[in-house]
Amino acid sequence: MSPSKTIKHAFKAAFGEDPAFIVRAPGRVNLIGEHTDYNDGFVFPMAIERATFIALRPRADYRVLAISLDMDDRRAFALDDLQRPTETEWIDYLVGVAWSLQERGYQLRGWEGVVSGDVPIGSGLSSSAALELATARAFYEVSGFEWDAAAMALACQAAENNWLGVKCGIMDQMISAAGVEDRALLIDCRSLETASAPLPPDTVVVILDTNTRRGLVDSAYNERREQCEAAAQHFGVSALRDVYSELFAEREHELVPLMRMRARHVITENERTLQARDAMNAGDAETLGQLMIASHISLRDDFAVSSPALDTIVDCANADPACYGARMTGAGFGGCAVALARGDGVETFVDRVGTCYREATGNEPIITVTGASRGAETVYP
Ligand code: GLA
Repeated sequence: MSPSKTIKHAFKAAFGEDPAFIVRAPGRVNLIGEHTDYNDGFVFPMAIERATFIALRPRADYRVLAISLDMDDRRAFALDDLQRPTETEWIDYLVGVAWSLQERGYQLRGWEGVVSGDVPIGSGLSSSAALELATARAFYEVSGFEWDAAAMALACQAAENNWLGVKCGIMDQMISAAGVEDRALLIDCRSLETASAPLPPDTVVVILDTNTRRGLVDSAYNERREQCEAAAQHFGVSALRDVYSELFAEREHELVPLMRMRARHVITENERTLQARDAMNAGDAETLGQLMIASHISLRDDFAVSSPALDTIVDCANADPACYGARMTGAGFGGCAVALARGDGVETFVDRVGTCYREATGNEPIITVTGASRGAETVYP
């Protein structure tokens, strides 16, 4: 059964009638442009087919009652009495989005419903952003305010930053809000302007989940952010986005080696991301693949956010004749890599990379081919 059908049944079982709405918001995979969003730079993700769904009906009062099928849990909260979390649970994402929308002046109404999804949690495919955007979409349906993808993404990012205490950039929320079917989305993380581009002909995107998760991701992430901010300050600009490679070449010797490496990653990654847009528009899979390979090396050596498992699965993929290029994707330190592969050779590619990674690590990867889906939307009625 499709997720939307499953959730409709679950809603009916819980509330005795069909839902008034079913909304969905997707997870994402980033093709290129990693650790650039919080430097006001460029990212090039696509929304994936896996998504979070909410089936709901409005309530006459200011309460939200949500049943999570995946967590097997039922929780409620009052919109005029939001409680800050001590330890983050799934419901806090909903509370955080309510808080953030209200902070921004949106008049919210209550609703009740069922939440469920198939974005794997904690694997770096942005299940949190999917839950946040689905929640925003649920409030939109019952409250009747205007839907603006960028405004919703910013509200959800603020929920994550200021309610849940995670200092993420704008990429995950923006792609979950604004994804385009069958296309990847170049996002300028300063202006939030977007431009979509189709994948090169006869190519597919493959998600290579190493099935490893590493702790301390948050602290390492925050440390990278601070290093980037310090480097930007050194150059007298508000973000590394404004440091072009000519300026960097002239003055990089002024930086201590660690900061030089971090800055070099961000500056070259922004350039690669814009080149990737050109390659994509030209239907040039070879160049796009080469840029992805270069991105991984830069993330591994200069930004130091890869892991042995990620390096192994990326090497397995890049050694395969069906692969144009592979790299780690998302924050790093475990989780997923992404590959651009030939459409016609993809089944054998999936098998071979699986075997290669399994033999090298003793770990079972989860490998999926994914298309690009639309951003947050209402799918029923
Ligand atoms: C995480 C964050 C994003 C982005 C990536 C790295 O996914 O949530 O904002 O910074 O890491 O590109």
